[in-house]
Amino acid sequence: MMLLTRRKSGPWSPESCRQKVAAQQAEYPDPAELARTVAELGALPPLVHDREIEALKAGLARAAEGECFVLQGGDCAESFSECGSDSIMARLTALLQMSLILRHGTGMPVLCLGRLAGQYAKPRSHPTETRDGVTLPAYRGDIINRSEFTAAARVPDPSLLLRGYERSALTLNFVRTLAASNFADLREIMDWQPHLAGSSVHLRELTQILDVVRHELAVPDPNAGRIGLYTSHEMLALDYDLAQTRYVTGKGWYNLTTHLPWIGVRTNAPDGAHVEYCRGIRNPIGIKVGPETTPECLTELLAILHPDNEPGRLVLIHRFGAGRIAGCLASLIEAVRATGKSVVWLSDPMHGNTETTESGVKTRRFERILAEVSESIRIHHELGSVLGGVHLELTGEHVTECIGGATRLTAEDLGRDYRSKVDPRLNYAQSLELALEIALQVNRTTRNEDRPGGLRRASSAAVAFAR
Ligand code: PEP
Ligand code: CO
Repeated sequence: MMLLTRRKSGPWSPESCRQKVAAQQAEYPDPAELARTVAELGALPPLVHDREIEALKAGLARAAEGECFVLQGGDCAESFSECGSDSIMARLTALLQMSLILRHGTGMPVLCLGRLAGQYAKPRSHPTETRDGVTLPAYRGDIINRSEFTAAARVPDPSLLLRGYERSALTLNFVRTLAASNFADLREIMDWQPHLAGSSVHLRELTQILDVVRHELAVPDPNAGRIGLYTSHEMLALDYDLAQTRYVTGKGWYNLTTHLPWIGVRTNAPDGAHVEYCRGIRNPIGIKVGPETTPECLTELLAILHPDNEPGRLVLIHRFGAGRIAGCLASLIEAVRATGKSVVWLSDPMHGNTETTESGVKTRRFERILAEVSESIRIHHELGSVLGGVHLELTGEHVTECIGGATRLTAEDLGRDYRSKVDPRLNYAQSLELALEIALQVNRTTRNEDRPGGLRRASSAAVAFAR
């Protein structure tokens, strides 16, 4: 295997991570079958192109400087059975409409990253699940095993890696088709207002945004309304991501399953396999940080993953919980500042705010989610840092998984249409409402300021709808 670089941590190759402890991996009963499947996967065409990956990196470099706002969002876990056109279109529509709101609210271009086309593997807090006295291996996402509660379903099956690749290719093909047919043209997604009528306290602001957009569309600039969309997934199942890791002549190694792979909090140990793998690839890398991440650990992660301070290379996604962020975030911002390196900070207000209702249903409260984003905006601003965007779990459908928001969903409503097999997602109305709240708060926080390198002053159009 070809060697790329020799750094403090030793020589890197796509396989060097195999020498490290790999948390959260499936144990396949038949290693020979796994090897055959991985070889087949490796021979199939890549899903994304290295030029797209570099274009994303350039966009992220702008986000690090406060010149662009990142919206990363989608399902907690995609599922093979929801790979249909309606579901994909609903997700894209929600993401693009949120991008539109954020663009006009913040006065910045928006870079949209889907948790999409490969978000199939899930880390679990417990390796097993017990129901009525029966204990089985946990469900680890559709690309690893099956969710039914039977012993046979929970056995990791290598053929699911191939099915996951195929589902990702189908999703991406549909997304690319929609994009090529100008789906991302704002004219195509203007019929959203009726969905919110009567449900949103912010109808006045939404109407004003629409007026701004209509005015903008009157200007004959074919690119004015286009929004860049990229893919991302948690880089968790090493067998999957390694199989599609390729050397691009003259450039280096890329993970070509996705534009941005990210590392979750359960696999972010500096000496673990996921960090080892990511240090050698040229993709921009996301890494989740939480209450357990110490400033020392973060400094070490930056030394390993971001040694050259390449613009747009590293995205730090913080997820503390509304009650903990005030005590946790500042020391991490200071630790990064002390390295002198530039990163993109995203706020994930979902994963620190999960709770279980009295009847045992996993949910999140809209108000807690909003509170964590608000705290993120405030703390970064007070410390002269830049919050580059948000990372959300959402769907474009009218599910009932999270509580609260303008539609006032309660714990009693959750049973009506709860579909997620893992974490609860914001539904369509909650997603748009959150985007609007974020846009208004970023606008309010940065209004009347012109701080070079900080969040930009919002455009006059955006200020026009601020409360
Ligand atoms: C996730 O993003 O779905 C996830 C598991 O996040 P975290 O690693 O932050 O818990
Ligand atoms: Co999740």
